[in-house]
Amino acid sequence: MKKIVIFIVCLLLLVVFTGSVALGQDVIIMRLSSDQPENAPGEKGFKFFADRIAEETNGQIKIELYPNAVLGDLGETIEQVQAGVLELSKTSCGWLGNFVPIMDIFSIPYLFRDKDHYWKVLEGEVGEEIVKYTEEAGLKLLFWVDAGARSFYNNVRPIYNPDDLKGLKIRVMGSEIMIKTMEAFGASPTTTAFSEVYTAIQTGVIDGAENNPPSIDRMKHNEVAKYLSLDEHMMIPDNLVISLDIWNKLSKEHQDIFIKVSKEAQEFVKEEWAKQEQEALERISKTMEINEIPDKTPFIDKVKHLQEELSPKFEGYIEKIQAVK
Ligand code: GCU
Repeated sequence: MKKIVIFIVCLLLLVVFTGSVALGQDVIIMRLSSDQPENAPGEKGFKFFADRIAEETNGQIKIELYPNAVLGDLGETIEQVQAGVLELSKTSCGWLGNFVPIMDIFSIPYLFRDKDHYWKVLEGEVGEEIVKYTEEAGLKLLFWVDAGARSFYNNVRPIYNPDDLKGLKIRVMGSEIMIKTMEAFGASPTTTAFSEVYTAIQTGVIDGAENNPPSIDRMKHNEVAKYLSLDEHMMIPDNLVISLDIWNKLSKEHQDIFIKVSKEAQEFVKEEWAKQEQEALERISKTMEINEIPDKTPFIDKVKHLQEELSPKFEGYIEKIQAVK
């Protein structure tokens, strides 16, 4: 009897031990880098994504989150993902355009008519075609992360019309088109990493920047900049990319789970965005003077020529985007 009990105990231990060894071998750990705090809309979406991937793969894939640019700013982490030394990174098309040139198309001012147009393009055929280009750069775009509309904020004066931008030193992402746009507005653009914007404004290295309200709020830029003027000149989407090498090593089953969960995460962030955009405006209005710009025509007119000028560079894609109804 005693022998039987010992035998059963040993057998159980063996099962537990080999089971955990097998599990240990099977667990794939991936790091996901992003540049904002955990409570920002995109970052909440990445947490949702990581949790759902763990759930769907029964813990076989564990995604570790590294927010706040601890692994680097977006320009750096995209490069790391491209080289396969980092598995996943948030990007903004304003940075991604340096690696996948067509992505800079989203930095064209007033490219989208409204939010509905933006999502119709991103989720439609044109968006799908554009996404494919990421593979040529060793990346795979998993899902779009809502990033709303960008507006100017600065410390010198409120912007009511484009002439108010004359001579202001404005921070932009590493995007050639953002630079061209600022020049067309008469401002003086300078590329700065996102994590350095707060100090750059505070110390007067720049007069201001341009971004969406949740980013201003989550990064506390409202503590150092006085005026926010809602001209909504660009809608540059964020997204999540995975290294193509790592993607190709995943089983078909895991790839299918990533595709399914990515769709869910995209929807999750959309809802989170809508909530946080309003809340952010309310919060920052306590320290910032915010002005709406109901008629944006003078702003649109000032940069309209860029679409025609840039048309050859994007080989018909500007027109394809405009044609989406
Ligand atoms: C986007 C994005 C940021 C990004 C930033 C930027 O809105 O959400 O995380 O880095 O713009 O201006 O660099």
